[in-house]
Amino acid sequence: MVKKIKSCVFISGNGTNLHSIIKRSRDYNFPIKIELIISNSLNAKGLKLAKKYGIPSKFFSSNYKEKFERDSLHEIKKRKIKFICLAGFMKILSENFIKKFNHKIINIHPSLLPKFKGLNTHKRALKSNAKYSGCTVHYVSPKLDSGKIILQKKVLISKNETENSLKRKILVQEHKIYPQSIISIFR
Ligand code: GAR
Repeated sequence: MVKKIKSCVFISGNGTNLHSIIKRSRDYNFPIKIELIISNSLNAKGLKLAKKYGIPSKFFSSNYKEKFERDSLHEIKKRKIKFICLAGFMKILSENFIKKFNHKIINIHPSLLPKFKGLNTHKRALKSNAKYSGCTVHYVSPKLDSGKIILQKKVLISKNETENSLKRKILVQEHKIYPQSIISIFR
């Protein structure tokens, strides 16, 4: 039995990536254990997963970033969390916070980085007439969506692709590469 690394997932919304990580993390040899979920949205659907799987969770408003980070840090330290996954977390963390966890925070982004950093990725991918889009898991660095890439998965953009169909198609791949990335980091 591997000694699992105590980890935290930050979310803002549906939490489907969180769900994929939770499910995989129950394998005896998966390297991390989710011991905390932090949401900056009280209504995040992902918080229901915390209840379902009996994982401690916290809501901290991100209206005041400093307070959000202070409260999160307090909880993270209290629980001896050593690794953080951002999974659909839609706020930008401060350089100060990120530096405290150098190479210990990873994120998933719904594009083939360095293409389409930031928001509205699917809309921009479609507008660019690109043949492919995809998703990327990367380390979080102070520059938005620019840290070292861990894994990427390409998907073909079909002729009649819509933002929603592309989003769904990419999410399927996100759910695979997020757990795979975690495995590859600790292998
Ligand atoms: C995912 O597509 C994720 O890549 C994206 O938000 C969605 C969250 O879905 N993240 C970003 O755009 C971060 N900039 P989920 O809440 O169902 O995991």
